[in-house]
Amino acid sequence: MKNYKTIVLSNQEISPGYYRMQILAPGYDAQARAGQFVMFRVQRSLPPLLRRPFGIFRTGFLAPDCDGMPSKEFIEIVYKVVGLGTEIMQDLHQGDQIELLGPLGRGFDLGAPDEDKILVGGGIGLVPLYMLAEKLDNKARSRLLMGGRTRDDIITVTEFERLGVETYVSTEDGSLGEEGLVTQVLERKLQKYPQATVYACGPMPMLDAVQRICANHKAPLQVSLEALMACGVGACLGCVVKGAGHSEETPRYLCTCKQGPVFNAEELDWRQLDEPQQDCGGCR
Ligand code: FES
Repeated sequence: MKNYKTIVLSNQEISPGYYRMQILAPGYDAQARAGQFVMFRVQRSLPPLLRRPFGIFRTGFLAPDCDGMPSKEFIEIVYKVVGLGTEIMQDLHQGDQIELLGPLGRGFDLGAPDEDKILVGGGIGLVPLYMLAEKLDNKARSRLLMGGRTRDDIITVTEFERLGVETYVSTEDGSLGEEGLVTQVLERKLQKYPQATVYACGPMPMLDAVQRICANHKAPLQVSLEALMACGVGACLGCVVKGAGHSEETPRYLCTCKQGPVFNAEELDWRQLDEPQQDCGGCR
């Protein structure tokens, strides 16, 4: 994990309100694991003072003809514009200076290659699932279920399809794919693949529903939690969630940034996920 100044390589709107940013990131291709995140701070602006967490969409290498670059490695993040921090980010251009801390947190456990796997992503929750799908050994036994409110929330479908992962799209208004909730598709897929391990990232109500379905089917589940974070390294306790077995008498808290953002479902106290949550636009 390193903190350093680096530059934006590109920053493009890929769907209304959703942006994809490529950042020069020496060392990340070897170090970063699926499900990890970075803390990001814009250099040239005073507000927001705090860093913001973003899941790593993918890592890679620049084309050989990018001469003069101090490194050839990059990471990509995908974010939704939801507040001051992401409004500033959407105006960044190639060459703008930023500060990056990472890679941080606990990533996904990839499991055994001969298992069926079902990946469930809601809206911006798709972001950490791309690197997971990329790293899975047996893509022919992996399915991705993408859900959103409208077609604008369904992002990077083609890239998932190019990996060879079967992809199913659903939207609540029926503007793309099947009409309805992604959790309805999950229910059907678990009936067809009852031994599957499930990986999920998205809004808390979706994760809550995914957890109930997986519990009914006795399917192992890993979830990547979205949370507002200040430090990203376990120092401020601003990102804690209640762990399994939590009570007033025996409080048990887990840091999303350090002990997560990926948790096995049985590590968490799911009662807290009924509480109101804030849309953080791709924060881990
Ligand atoms: Fe500070 Fe997690 S963000 S402890």
